[in-house]
Amino acid sequence: MTIGAGTPGSSSPTGAGSTTGGAGGAEAGSTTGGVLGGERVRIYEVGPRDGLQNEARPIATEDKRRFIELLVDAGLREIEATSFVSPRAVPQLADAGDLLRSLPRGRGVRFPVLVPNVHGLERAEASGADAIAVFTAATDEFTRHNIGMTVDQSLDAFAPVLERAASLGWWRRGYVSTAFGCPYTGAVAPERAVGVALRLLGLGVDEVCFGDTIGVAVPSQVRDLLARTLDAGVPLDRVALHFHDTRGTALANVVAGLEAGVGCFDASTGGTGGCPYAPGAAGNLATEDLVYLLDGLGVQHGADLAGVLAAARFVTERLGRPLSSKVGQAGGWDPETGRAVA
Ligand code: HMG
Ligand code: MG
Repeated sequence: MTIGAGTPGSSSPTGAGSTTGGAGGAEAGSTTGGVLGGERVRIYEVGPRDGLQNEARPIATEDKRRFIELLVDAGLREIEATSFVSPRAVPQLADAGDLLRSLPRGRGVRFPVLVPNVHGLERAEASGADAIAVFTAATDEFTRHNIGMTVDQSLDAFAPVLERAASLGWWRRGYVSTAFGCPYTGAVAPERAVGVALRLLGLGVDEVCFGDTIGVAVPSQVRDLLARTLDAGVPLDRVALHFHDTRGTALANVVAGLEAGVGCFDASTGGTGGCPYAPGAAGNLATEDLVYLLDGLGVQHGADLAGVLAAARFVTERLGRPLSSKVGQAGGWDPETGRAVA
């Protein structure tokens, strides 16, 4: 199937999003068979976590909180806030507990946090978490560098974490990094990624997320991986896609995912991001670029472009760097006047 037609920007001439926020992010999903214009997808914001975990210049907890507030104001309803990992491994997120406790609750927003082990789960629980993401990969080499375990060992470590989280009624995601390519071992056969996804689902995650950790995928690979995922019996409303935009293919990959029927896409406001254990990983797909694309396609998502741009300017200013995303530089577009809008 094809996705809905529309002039880019036509659904939101002022940069406003296609629908209001609400708790839709956490509820919406897609069925298999391709998203049509008018349908709704989830944008899963990873800026505060993936965006900030690799920054040379750490930013203050108060600035992280303000960034997240701006993301909420922009209509984003799933915001991966931080990680309960070793502060020695990722000092940028050492303030995870203080940050999570300070976040605005009650606006229908889900704030998942990364958790690698039981220790991380306990810290998350003590800080008021109610949604977690565990993270492994399709390759042992990457997983060893990232969390000091093989894939098998990581799944063993996640079992009690996911069991406890389920007993607490928490939402649970499982990442499969290096789903399209590994910085240590090269090409990754799609069946490896699907196999790990199946094992994560067997451990009780609500959703699996395939990560293009170093940004090497192209749309044919996305289509192939999703077809194999479906063949393995996994409905695509339990699948999310996480593209780093290292080589400029992230938006094309999103379109491939939309056409296949995926209903959740990760993005990072300001286009920041990268994994400290993935040499060559650049920023995530920028949320503002994703929002512009979805608006133009007539796919609803609940975020507001002007609000996302405000958050992007805020965080990149705090990081001391220019806003380098495409839409961050060009602005939105008003089809009435033909002019860019800030
Ligand atoms: P380790 O050193 O093997 O763990 O680290 P350990 O069990 O031997 O413990 C060593 C020390 O760490 C101990 O402290 C533990 O208490 C402490 P010490 O006794 O030496 O003072 N420790 C912890 N402290 C706080 N929170 C914890 C925790 N666990 C142990 N949860 C570990 C193993 C997993 C902890 C470490 O390797 C780690 O934290 N790695 C971080 C990896 C990471 O955050 N990577 C980036 C995120 S993944 C990503 O970006 C990819 C993604 O975006 C998708 C994609 O792009 O594909 C999700
Ligand atoms: Mg990532």
